[in-house]
Amino acid sequence: MGYQKGNLIYEGKAKRLFEVAGYPELVWQEFKDSMTAFNGAKKAELNDKGPLNRNICTTIFKYLKKKGIKSHWIQSPGTRDMITEKLKMIPLEVVVRNKAAGSLVKRLGIAEKKDLVPPLVEFFYKNDALGDPFINDEQALMLNTAKDLNEIQKLKSAAVRINAELKVFFGEMGLDLVDFKLEFGRNSNGELILADEISPDSCRLWDFKTGEVKDKDRFRKDLGNVIESYRDIENRIRTHWKELLP
Ligand SMILES: Nc1ncnc2c1ncn2[C@@H]1O[C@H](COP(=O)(O)OP(=O)(O)O)[C@@H](O)[C@H]1O
Ligand SMILES: [Mg+2]
Repeated sequence: MGYQKGNLIYEGKAKRLFEVAGYPELVWQEFKDSMTAFNGAKKAELNDKGPLNRNICTTIFKYLKKKGIKSHWIQSPGTRDMITEKLKMIPLEVVVRNKAAGSLVKRLGIAEKKDLVPPLVEFFYKNDALGDPFINDEQALMLNTAKDLNEIQKLKSAAVRINAELKVFFGEMGLDLVDFKLEFGRNSNGELILADEISPDSCRLWDFKTGEVKDKDRFRKDLGNVIESYRDIENRIRTHWKELLP
């Protein structure tokens, strides 16, 4: 007897959130096949994307757990589902960058692929109506996303620690973790917990040998073979981290 899916709570761009019958402290996350970019302006349905991201994301949360990093992940039933701790989400996208790409290149004129040592941590205000703008620490505080500067620091150091673990995780698979986005939430004890998803939708991953783009940039830039690329990542997990796959 496993968990039963309850009422729909929220439909996002990539996931649907449901109640878990009889467990008000949990939330059922269903990974959709929808792919969106540029704040929802570009959309597609890609068969199997949901299950692939759920498998990749589950593996990553299990890997982090083994490394002593707690997340909201509890279990992954079905084929596109994840049971998680229900959190009060912090409306921040915490981005960690190991190499320059994307908006950093566009906004600051930095050469793409430039190594960023130490890794750069940035905050974006998670607000679709405003287009998820970059904000500094003081703005994050003003927006009450954190209690104090100490909590801001905690978010940054958690992100840096997760980056170090994920670089190894993907490195083993021949993938260069260029940058990624994290979301955190607060549990009933006020603790900051890693939440949402970590997947090729939220990471830039380049093949170490060929430099080939393996992540959602294939969709953003119309490079083709999006699902084939996500499936390749899952296959590499099957080769290198089989015991962690759901
Ligand atoms: N453990 C959690 N508890 C409550 N909400 C969560 C949790 N993990 C992620 N979320 C939120 O659920 C939503 C996930 O759906 P998604 O399709 O990614 O939405 P969005 O389009 O807002 O990014 C996001 O708003 C995310 O912040
Ligand atoms: Mg999302």
